[in-house]
Amino acid sequence: MGVYSTVMEAITWYTGLSPTAFFTILFMMAMVYRTVCGMFVSPEDYNKPPIVTAPSNLGLDGANIDAPEPVQLGEMTEQELRTYNGSDPNKPILVSIRGQIYDVSAGRNFYGPGGPYAMFAGKECSRALALLSFKPVDINGNLEDLSEEDLVILEDWEYKFIEKYVKVGQLVPEKSTQQNEFRGEIKDNPVDECK
Ligand code: HEM
Ligand SMILES: *[C@@H]1O[C@H](CO)[C@@H](O)[C@H](O)[C@H]1NC(C)=O
Repeated sequence: MGVYSTVMEAITWYTGLSPTAFFTILFMMAMVYRTVCGMFVSPEDYNKPPIVTAPSNLGLDGANIDAPEPVQLGEMTEQELRTYNGSDPNKPILVSIRGQIYDVSAGRNFYGPGGPYAMFAGKECSRALALLSFKPVDINGNLEDLSEEDLVILEDWEYKFIEKYVKVGQLVPEKSTQQNEFRGEIKDNPVDECK
C-alpha cells in the first residue's frame, strides 16, 4: 500500500468525508481565511507610508526626479526657444507662459517627443493653455482677444507651472533692440498675420 492510499483512508477514517470533499472544504477554508485576513491591516503596516508602485523615477506629480537640475538660460527669442523641444536629449525641454520660460524636462513624459503635450515643447503656449486648445494656430503668446475666463484659466496654468517647474529664462522679441517688453506680439506669430 502506498503512502497515498494510506493518507486517503486516514482522511476518510478520521473525518468521515471522502478525500475529494475533504480537500474541497480545506481549499474553501483557506480562501475564506485569506479573504478575511485581507480585510485587516496589521498594526505594524498601518503607520507605514503607502508603497508606491509604478516607475520609481516618477514623483507624485508625475515629475521625473532623474531629470538633470534646471540651468538658468536667461533671455532668448522664440526662435531659440524652439530648439528646446525635446528632440535633443542633451538639451532641456522648455515651455514659455506669458514670456516666462520654464524647464519642463522633469515632465518629459508630457512634453517629450511622442508625449501628449509635445506640441507645447519649445513654444510660447499661453494662448493654447488659456483656450484649452491644441491647435497649432493657438500655440503662441497672443492674448489680445481672450475673455476674462480664458485669462483665469491661463493664470491657473501659470500657478501650476510655477509650483512644479523651475523658471530658467525669459522670452524677448527677435532682435532685442526693441524697447517694449514681451507682450506676445512677436514676429513669426501666425495669429499676428491674421490681424
Ligand atoms: C480630454 C481632455 C484631457 C485629458 C483627459 C487630460 C489629461 C491630463 C492628465 C491626466 C494630466 C496629468 C495631471 C497631473 O499631472 O496631475 C494632464 C496634465 C496636463 N494637461 Fe491635460 N488633459 C486633457 C486636456 C488638456 C488640454 C485641452 C490641455 C491644454 C490645451 C491640456 C494641457 C495639460 C498640461 C499643460 C498638463 C500639465 C502637464 C505637466 O504637469 O507639466 N490638457 N492632462
Ligand atoms: C525640434 O527642433 C529641432 C531642431 O530645432 C527640429 O529639427 C525638429 O523638427 C523639432 N521637432 C519637433 C517635433 O518639432
